Amino acid sequence: MTRARTILYDCDTGIDDAITLLYLASLVRVGELELAGVGTVHGNIDPLTGALNTLRVLELAGIKTGRQGELAEQGERDGQGVPVAVGAARPMAQDVHYALDWHGRDGLGDTHLPEPAGRPVAEPAAAQIVRLARARPGELTLLATGPLSNLGLALLLDPELPSLVREVVVMGGAFDHPGNITTHAEANIWHDPEAADLVFAADWPVVLVPLDATHPAAVHDDWLDRLAAHDAAAARFAARILEFYVDAYTPTLRRRGAVIHDALAAMLAVDPDLGEYTQRAVRVELRGELTRGTTVWDARSLPAEDTRRPVRVAVGSDVPAFRERLLAAVLSL
Ligand code: RIB
Ligand code: CA
Repeated sequence: MTRARTILYDCDTGIDDAITLLYLASLVRVGELELAGVGTVHGNIDPLTGALNTLRVLELAGIKTGRQGELAEQGERDGQGVPVAVGAARPMAQDVHYALDWHGRDGLGDTHLPEPAGRPVAEPAAAQIVRLARARPGELTLLATGPLSNLGLALLLDPELPSLVREVVVMGGAFDHPGNITTHAEANIWHDPEAADLVFAADWPVVLVPLDATHPAAVHDDWLDRLAAHDAAAARFAARILEFYVDAYTPTLRRRGAVIHDALAAMLAVDPDLGEYTQRAVRVELRGELTRGTTVWDARSLPAEDTRRPVRVAVGSDVPAFRERLLAAVLSL
């Protein structure tokens, strides 16, 4: 697993995706990371709302958003700004579902924030993935914290894509942990199982950060109270959107708190040493009546003769370090 220097982020900006954007923005602001672009996808919310939410968060974090994509095609460039592209509006082979109970009807905890100043670019997110990977071969880490429809589409658009991408880091799946959208399936994978299986079958280095790793990294009272004690705009925004998310998560956790899944995937992309991993080929159940969307690995101890490239699966992380670095990142904006 390599330390990401340039991230192309694919998300379904909902609440934990928004906190993750704040984390990434804090690294961009100090020159530790380049955010080459963002693409949005159905999942927590529809991709246009997700894109407008992404623009709201990036603007709040002081990150200039731009229209590089469409201007670059005409030989012009506005030169500045992170392009935000709208992606797939539905899965490859099932009806679309949104997670409004967990993220609110606006995707940001029903906070109904003002319209962003910026607008999404015209280029679809899957096309943006292909264009940027071709323009910058070997440089991009694809970080995906929503359903994998855009990555799956990009693989269909350009079969050479796996050889052009440095690494793929995905928040998704569940192995020795119950599912969160069905008994066995995690939401990002369940929302588009066909796309997810294309991603795990492709010959590129994939790091998967499942519920097995994200749930133990939940934040609780002390973390939330420390965040709420700060008055800066980004901290106030984070505390405000997390209120909705904490209300949704507290019954599941049986204590006040929330699981900021996506931020752990982002932090492991930036600093892999914070994680603990195992290497296994991963498949997605596509036909099971009760298990469709479940991530499946071969847990037998036999040396697996598998045609699939193994996926690096995070099975744990340095939880105190994750919590402290995430809080520090939000408070630094
Ligand atoms: O299962 C958790 C994942 O589903 C997170 O990415 C959350 O944002 C939702 O998309
Ligand atoms: Ca997400």
